[in-house]
Amino acid sequence: MPKTASSPGPIKVIYDTDPGIDDAMALLFLEYAPAIDLVGITTVLGNASIETTTRNALFLKQYFGIQAPVARGADRPLVLELADEPPHHIHGHNGLGDVPIPETLSVTEHELPAHRFIIDMVRKHPGEITIVAVGRMTNLALALREDPGIADLVKEIVIMGGAFGYSGHSGNVTPVAEANIIGDPHAADEMFAASWPIVVVGLDVTQECVMSTAYMQELREKAGKAGQFCWDISRVYEDFYRAATGIDGIFVHDSSAVAYLLDPSLFTTRTGPIKVVTEGIAIGQTIQKPSTRSFPPGVWDGLPDHTICTDVDGKRFLDLYFQTIVDGAAARA
Ligand code: BDR
Ligand code: CA
Repeated sequence: MPKTASSPGPIKVIYDTDPGIDDAMALLFLEYAPAIDLVGITTVLGNASIETTTRNALFLKQYFGIQAPVARGADRPLVLELADEPPHHIHGHNGLGDVPIPETLSVTEHELPAHRFIIDMVRKHPGEITIVAVGRMTNLALALREDPGIADLVKEIVIMGGAFGYSGHSGNVTPVAEANIIGDPHAADEMFAASWPIVVVGLDVTQECVMSTAYMQELREKAGKAGQFCWDISRVYEDFYRAATGIDGIFVHDSSAVAYLLDPSLFTTRTGPIKVVTEGIAIGQTIQKPSTRSFPPGVWDGLPDHTICTDVDGKRFLDLYFQTIVDGAAARA
């Protein structure tokens, strides 16, 4: 059984991320939440190349004075071919909405690759590390392959990824697949097969929360440097969502995983083992067998239960994000 013993004080978090506009906004949420002790940032390819997501993580560390080290992660999926182009139309050519980023940075990368950094931290702090993973699951799968014993030592994993059809949300890259999972479906499937406790915050809830243009404007007015930055980087993102879905604002993907960690009562959940489709037209689809249902023998048998989020109190979540950023910015002004 995974260790769930917790030490007093803030929750120690490793943030596995592919910044990315919503990744950057979620990083601020983690950094500014008093209940969180951010002990590491690990990068993965996804919203941009690994060069760019790592550079962006370092830039965010420098720009916001974040203490946590940045460890560079996977530059390709476990099995799939590398895609030609990252999604520039969503996150901009530089992954951060094309806001200017200095050519040279004064902060440097951690000496370990991301998956070894994860192993190292989990072994140093058994039962205490929570991993918030909001990109592809490649670093987690690599860590597991190298040291399967860490599954028993991680406190909790909260991921943004997948979709289970709740409230009509089943995919954003294909009709049945979400970006972080279809980007490396083999890694996600390996991660779900391990017996560490995973909470999946998927499109079912992230697409039920919208930060409207008015919300972003108020954040810009009240949250100082952080509010201005969130506004600046999200212009491209907002244009994409307006064109792709017709919403006036942005879906709140990666910050929803942080919200679960800070206040799980915001979410309704369901448990059961999860498989990921790794080939064919449904590649990237996440399928959970509810633990309350029995079926004839199948591929879900013998797999550990994990938790998925099926509904969210969007108003309370948006208030929590807003207040955390405003308070965090005021404390650092
Ligand atoms: C996820 O994909 C990425 O584009 C976002 O950063 C988020 O993690 C949403 O499907
Ligand atoms: Ca992301």
